[in-house]
Amino acid sequence: MNVLVTGGLGFIGSHTVIALHQAGYTPVIIDNLSNSSEAVLTQLSKITGHSFEFYRGCIGDDALMQQILTDHNIEGVFHFAALKAVGESTEQPLAYYRNNVSNTVAMLETMAKCGVERIVFSSSATVYGDPQYLPLDEKHPISSTNPYGWTKVMVERVLQDYCAANEKMLAIALRYFNPVGAHPSGELGESPKGIPNNLMPYIAQTAVGIREYLNIFGDDYDTHDGTGVRDYIHVQDLVSGHVAAFDVHVKDSGFHAYNLGTGQGYSVLDMVKAFSSSAQTEIAYKICPRRDGDVASNYADASKARQILNWHAKHDLKSMTDDTWRWQTNYPKGLE
Ligand code: WQD
Repeated sequence: MNVLVTGGLGFIGSHTVIALHQAGYTPVIIDNLSNSSEAVLTQLSKITGHSFEFYRGCIGDDALMQQILTDHNIEGVFHFAALKAVGESTEQPLAYYRNNVSNTVAMLETMAKCGVERIVFSSSATVYGDPQYLPLDEKHPISSTNPYGWTKVMVERVLQDYCAANEKMLAIALRYFNPVGAHPSGELGESPKGIPNNLMPYIAQTAVGIREYLNIFGDDYDTHDGTGVRDYIHVQDLVSGHVAAFDVHVKDSGFHAYNLGTGQGYSVLDMVKAFSSSAQTEIAYKICPRRDGDVASNYADASKARQILNWHAKHDLKSMTDDTWRWQTNYPKGLE
């Protein structure tokens, strides 16, 4: 089956392309290269021995999308293309609503024209807003504390309403916790442009000397060591969750949402210690004031995915930091 992967040269998208190929699907990639590099395409071929069809463009380009969906007989869309920086979304909300929401609606309209009735949507645990209880299950109230999160809430709402109006439509929203790690080959990983927003790439760049030290945003939270606790999940577990969800639901319709997390929370200092062990070097850090919008703890109840998708995260913390370290040392400046 031919499937389209939007944002397929990005961190999660590119790893999903490999997993889909290995599961027997034929992924076609579209990416506007706003936060990725065409060099990823070479890495995908190096890892799989396969060359993938790639289109540089925007998912809101109706003519281009009609051409791709029709020419390649696309039967499902894995939708990763989105802006994803929480802080940036508060500074540039219109760019986030246009790119993440308007363009997704435009893509859904094009899919409808072409009879494509399956979508797997890259959602986020951010849709749970400030946790009212932990661990977070899929019944937790939906809200957000930032425009980026609201774009994920809105697209899930669009998909729910579209499925209610079109009985053959299948939409699967996968709510990621904190994706980290890299492909075990060391040939593919996260390549954030500029100063990393997220913890793991910042730690990795500190370990190789690109950053002088890590700023730890607060050590006065109500957690075991005072630093923020999150549910870090290896990207390889995340992508196997995508394949499992599609395999299970491919003949179904309706809206389905699943948490993709490990259920295990680790603190910032836990991550620093684990990475220091992988890299065999100390990670310099400074304790700084809390970052606006951060919560103390956030981790998943992933039992619904285990029960229905027969999926659970298999990679432990050491493999997350080992794989990240291998990637970081192979490509200190990422792929340019
Ligand atoms: C993790 C912890 C920080 C950087 C965000 C998005 C979420 C998802 C994952 C897209 C927190 C601390 C971080 C640093 C630090 N993205 N930290 N120093 O904020 O949990 O989630 O990324 O879907 O939607 O909200 O991830 O990696 O930014 O932070 O101390 O330089 O590390 O305070 O406790 P976060 P993060």
